[in-house]
Parts: sequence; C-alpha cells; structure tokens
Amino acid sequence: MLQRPRRNRKSAAIRAMVEETTLTVNDFIFPLFLLEGNKKSIPVESMPDINRLTLDNMLKEIEECLNLGVKVFDIFPVVDEKYKDKTGTASYDENFFYLKALTEIKKKFPEACIMTDVALDPYSVDGHDGIVDENGVILNDETLEVLAQMAVAQAETGIDIIGPSDMMDGRVAEIREALDESGFTDTSIMSYTAKYASAFYGPFRDALDSAPKSGDKKTYQMNPANKREALIEAEQDELEGADMLMIKPAMTYLDVIHVIREKTELPVTAYNVSGEYAMIKAAAQKGWLDNDKVILETLLSIKRAGADAILTYFAKEAAQLLKN
Ligand code: PBG
Repeated sequence: MLQRPRRNRKSAAIRAMVEETTLTVNDFIFPLFLLEGNKKSIPVESMPDINRLTLDNMLKEIEECLNLGVKVFDIFPVVDEKYKDKTGTASYDENFFYLKALTEIKKKFPEACIMTDVALDPYSVDGHDGIVDENGVILNDETLEVLAQMAVAQAETGIDIIGPSDMMDGRVAEIREALDESGFTDTSIMSYTAKYASAFYGPFRDALDSAPKSGDKKTYQMNPANKREALIEAEQDELEGADMLMIKPAMTYLDVIHVIREKTELPVTAYNVSGEYAMIKAAAQKGWLDNDKVILETLLSIKRAGADAILTYFAKEAAQLLKN
C-alpha cells in the first residue's frame, strides 16, 4: 500500500498538524432575546439554558461573554402584544425599549459588535415578516419601506450590523440606500441570503411569541428542496450591496453553505437555529449524546462546510469549552 491515510492520524501531534479546520471563539455570533423592563430573566422552555433577559441582565451577560472572547451579539426583541400592529410601527419608534436598549448596550460596550434583526414578525399582529393584505398576501414592495425605516432607526442607536431576515425581494438595496442617505455608510448588512421555510425555527418563535397567526412563510422563505435558487439569492444580495451572506438553518443545509462559499468572495455565515440547539440539548439532557463533544463537532462541521462565522445559541458554552 502506497497510501496509508492512518499514518497522518497516528498521534495527537500529527493530527493537530494536518488539521484543516479550526474552531475559535472569533467564529461565534451569540443571539440574545431582550425583554422590556428590568430584573427579569425568563427561561425559554424549548431551549434549555437560554433566557429572555431585561437590559440589566443582558448587560451582565454580554460582559461575561466578552470576558470569554465572544464579541458579536445578535439581539432580538420580545415584543408585547400591545405594541403590535399591521405594519410594525413600533419597530422605528425611537422611544421603543429595543432601540433604547441598543443605545445603552453600545454605550456600555463600544468594543462589542452588535447586530440587529430587520423583519416585521416580532412587531406584527399577523406574525409575518411582511405586511399582510386583506387576502392574506404578504406584500413585498410596501414592506420594503418599513424595513428601510426600521434599519435606519436601528442604525441610529450605533449598532454595527443590520440583519435583514425577512426574505422580501430587493430589501438589501432598499436598506443600503436608506442607510447611506441617512449618513450610515459604515453600518454593515449581513443578509439572510438563503433563509429556508424551515420547521427548525419553532423554539425561536416560542421565545418571541412571533409565530404566524395564519398560513406559513412559504411564499417568501425558500423551499428546503432548492439549492440552485440559493445562488440566485446570493448573486442578488451581492449586487445589492450586502457585506456578508448568511445561510439558515445550518446543520441541514451544509451543502448550501458549501455552494455559496464557492460562489462568493464575501464572508459567509450560517445560523445554527433554535431547533438545532433544542435537538442537541434534549438528547444531551437524556444522556443520549455527549453534550460538549456534540456541540463542538456541530460547530466545526458548519465551519468546515464553508462558514466564516456561526450564529449559535451555543456561543457562550462553546467559548467556555474551547477555553478549557
Ligand atoms: C424572524 C426570524 C426568525 C429567526 C430569526 N429571525 C424566525 C422566522 O423566520 O420565523 C429564527 C431563528 C432561530 O430559529 O433560531 N424573521
């Protein structure tokens, strides 16, 4: 035998030397759920160890993460029913608690990189990412105006990255133009480029109470059967001015991460979503999987597929694991 691949696996030193992919704390983006008020921490039933936090507790959480080396956070608001309407007006009301909290967070931790979410669902009585008309149709172009206003309001708080997660056509261009016109030329856009109509978002919708009131998201989020279509989305987002392209979910879409990585020179990210987190945590709690090893293998695999960074609820835990 001329080739004995096992020779390159014979010791820990050799294995480390020929290792192709390395996971580091720089790869993580930690999604956090913000509650109005203070001194509250409400567990998300379907996501063990994940809590919805009021600003005071979130500041503590961010500080702990920064000490572990996690520097990027994606913050989502938990919006009370009383603030919801058909067009998500609360999302760009400067007195809204989410926007005020973002300003506080950036003031306290200017070195942290803060990402926000742009979509109507947390603010909408319909629970959809866009405006719903009387026939149940999700309106594209009318929604773009709201998304642009929302993005500018978020940029005004000093945050670093806008994350449009709505999957309306043309939103990256619309948001880029609105940001530039308002002077926010340095605010980045990480586009949810290939976001699939996935059943893995269930726990997130529990956390935010943002599930669609009727219908599903299949007329705007992508069909899980399609990969070539993801390349069309990637090309569009790039031409429209996106700084980074995201694929979501991650674990069941590694092939999509791979093809987009091959196609673009932009940074590629992947969202290891709530259902993927819940699945691993549930099995680990039952003692059916080794929690620590499975977390690191999962994140490593997403990186190996081509992701430069990973949005993951495991961020803090994985940072601790990597440190030890
Ligand atoms: C909302 C949004 C969703 C997620 C991120 N932004 C849910 C959805 O589209 O229904 C899912 C994140 C997760 O499941 O962890 N636009």
